[in-house]
Amino acid sequence: MINMKNLLFFVLLFFCIGQLQAQKLKLQKDNIDEIVQAMTLKEKALLLVGRNDYTFGGYDNPEQFVRFIAPSVSGYTQGITRLGIPPTALADGPAGAVVVTRPDNEKEYYATGFPVGTSLACSWNIDLVEQVGKAMGSEILEYGIDVILAPGMNIHRSPLCGRNYEYYSEDPVVTGKTAAAFVRGIQSNGVGASLKHFAVNSQETNRTEVDEIVDQRTLREIYLRGFEIAVKESKPWTVMASYNRLNGPYTQENYELLTTVLRDEWGFDGIVMTDWIQKRHTDAQIKAGVDNLQPGYQVQLEDIEKMVKDGRLSMEDIDIAVKRMLQYIVKTPHFRSYKYSDSPDLEAHAAVTRTSAVEGMVLLKNENNALPLQDIKKVALFGCHSYDFLAGGTGSGNVVKPYVVDMQQGLVNAGLEIDGDIRDMYAKYKDFWQAKNRCDRNPEERYYTEPPLKELVVSKTCINGQALKADVAILTIGRQAGEGGDRTIDEGFNLSQVEQKLLSDLCEAFHAKGKKVIVVLNVGGAIETASWKGLPDAILLAWQPGQEGGNSVADVLLGKENPSGKLTMTFPISVMDMPSSLNFPIDGRRGDRSRSERKNIDYTLHSEGLNIGYRYFSTVKRSVSYPFGFGLSYTTFTYSKPVVKSTDDGLVASIVVTNSGKMAGKESVQLYVSAPSGGLDKPALELKAFAKTGLLQPGESETLTMKVSDYDLASFDEAVQSWVSSAGRYIIKFGASVEDIRATGVYNLKKTLTWKVNDVLKPTRKLK
Ligand code: BGC
Repeated sequence: MINMKNLLFFVLLFFCIGQLQAQKLKLQKDNIDEIVQAMTLKEKALLLVGRNDYTFGGYDNPEQFVRFIAPSVSGYTQGITRLGIPPTALADGPAGAVVVTRPDNEKEYYATGFPVGTSLACSWNIDLVEQVGKAMGSEILEYGIDVILAPGMNIHRSPLCGRNYEYYSEDPVVTGKTAAAFVRGIQSNGVGASLKHFAVNSQETNRTEVDEIVDQRTLREIYLRGFEIAVKESKPWTVMASYNRLNGPYTQENYELLTTVLRDEWGFDGIVMTDWIQKRHTDAQIKAGVDNLQPGYQVQLEDIEKMVKDGRLSMEDIDIAVKRMLQYIVKTPHFRSYKYSDSPDLEAHAAVTRTSAVEGMVLLKNENNALPLQDIKKVALFGCHSYDFLAGGTGSGNVVKPYVVDMQQGLVNAGLEIDGDIRDMYAKYKDFWQAKNRCDRNPEERYYTEPPLKELVVSKTCINGQALKADVAILTIGRQAGEGGDRTIDEGFNLSQVEQKLLSDLCEAFHAKGKKVIVVLNVGGAIETASWKGLPDAILLAWQPGQEGGNSVADVLLGKENPSGKLTMTFPISVMDMPSSLNFPIDGRRGDRSRSERKNIDYTLHSEGLNIGYRYFSTVKRSVSYPFGFGLSYTTFTYSKPVVKSTDDGLVASIVVTNSGKMAGKESVQLYVSAPSGGLDKPALELKAFAKTGLLQPGESETLTMKVSDYDLASFDEAVQSWVSSAGRYIIKFGASVEDIRATGVYNLKKTLTWKVNDVLKPTRKLK
């Protein structure tokens, strides 16, 4: 018989064991459901709200949560000590890890400044992009970071978007395949990537409020397609929902986007975080499928608790997100207590950035083989940006690099001589400019970006003197842009009058002496070239090529490396030739918080639909300055007759590329498809695949193989809310650029195939 005393003893014992077990309960890969059960609402809220250091002071029980010693990065997710849930760290992206300091020491930390996104994409080399991702991911890991906030993969809808340098292309296939390779590289280190900014964040003006109005077909085929490819081909750990609205709601509050399309249709199983924004509708964000609100405010924690209590959010809504957060956390280095070294192999990665920058460079012009430079000793090096080289763009994508090799240094490293007077003139001008800006700066302006150097007026006497002394003139033209603002046409897309005059004076003086003029473009996006490209002998589009930029450019100019980049965007004759310019904030105005009804600021109509980049220019046969896919080499290539074979679910095409010139080089081949007529209107041709050779010696050949599935051929038919590949004859075109189709084949699709999806994301305004 159990007496009262014994009973009490056993009850007490069970209680204590229960307590002990609860105390012992720690997060493991296989006990996530149990952890969710054991969490209080407050703890759950903490997991869903990023940790913004400045706002957590007043939240009760702060000592319960881990003080996170890590680099000062862009954001954190909160840890909960009692359940063994570590905090995790998120850092920008995308041209390298953005690490700055640690609270416990004064040392400065640097990460490798890799080539910007545009440059990487222009390599058309998926393996190379994966290698860059791998190197960058190892820096992330070794600095104790769990996720890099990259790749940036919005579409270059207009050349004026300020953040184009972070993005890849006007084409969704290039975007998706490049992003997928980058994510695979990053994640091979056991750290995560974040596809951003999901979606249609193709303008910076009023980026947090603007409502992007896009028809369903354009949305599916252009703006979502790249994300779809990257989600399916690389399984990213995270996706970042953009700032803007899309067809009405904010993307961050859009269930159709974040759940129906991203998770249900594409099978995304990671976490969705918001782009860094103040409090919005917390309930709408969580119900839409957001798992983590960044950067995180105390009021959002309070919101969650309040909303669960008053029924605006259910515990089920919360638990779905909490569970996904835990599934993310158990994959992170912080969860596996990875002992990061704080010293990634920066030396090895400097070599990676030097060579990868070279593959993204596009040789736009090379008259009479002006390049590679031969028998040159002394260079007349003009242009402010020769001495203030732009390794990357501005904003959150600006990497804190250990150094930047500018053009001047790069050429000197390669054994060339630069006139000392010119160097002094530009160096002093740069110092003056910086000092002047420090003086002119309004100390109350919180977000300050130094105005880019304005080109220096150089006298004809100086130029003539240089033409006598130097063997060649090199002029660097630079453009800086980034987060928070779009570019202007005057002095942004177009050359300024000072630049135009400098170029024409240089050409006049140097050509009169039988000497060449080379232009190096140090830019993050397309610029105007049509009006002046006739003047210089060669134009090398170097992009913003990372910290080794000057060395990379010198490698190409001197022929140590053969350029093999090609454009992933069209260079139009004028910005106004782009149909999107009719609906783009072309005065480059900065955002304005108050929301009203201002066209291109509060809402932007994508009335051009699919008429983005080459899809438009090749369909209406309108001339451009340099077409999509264009890029010269120091050697030449021939393409064989291709072979196109049907498979169970599409086609496999192969073509033999031969180096028919005199120098070793690489060639990328673009596979375009022209669809059978009838049915939906389609662009004249669309890129479906691409491949690049290895380094081919003169006379050497390589067979490139490219796969295209029947699904890849599909267009989106709004009438039936399905992707449709119509039966018929598809012409498969193998191009050196969209305007240089070298060979064709045929693929017959015997019967029409359809893939039904959900009728979602309808535009809320008339587009035409
Ligand atoms: C940018 C994101 C970035 C985030 C964190 C935002 O302003 O749009 O691209 O990842 O800040 O720094």
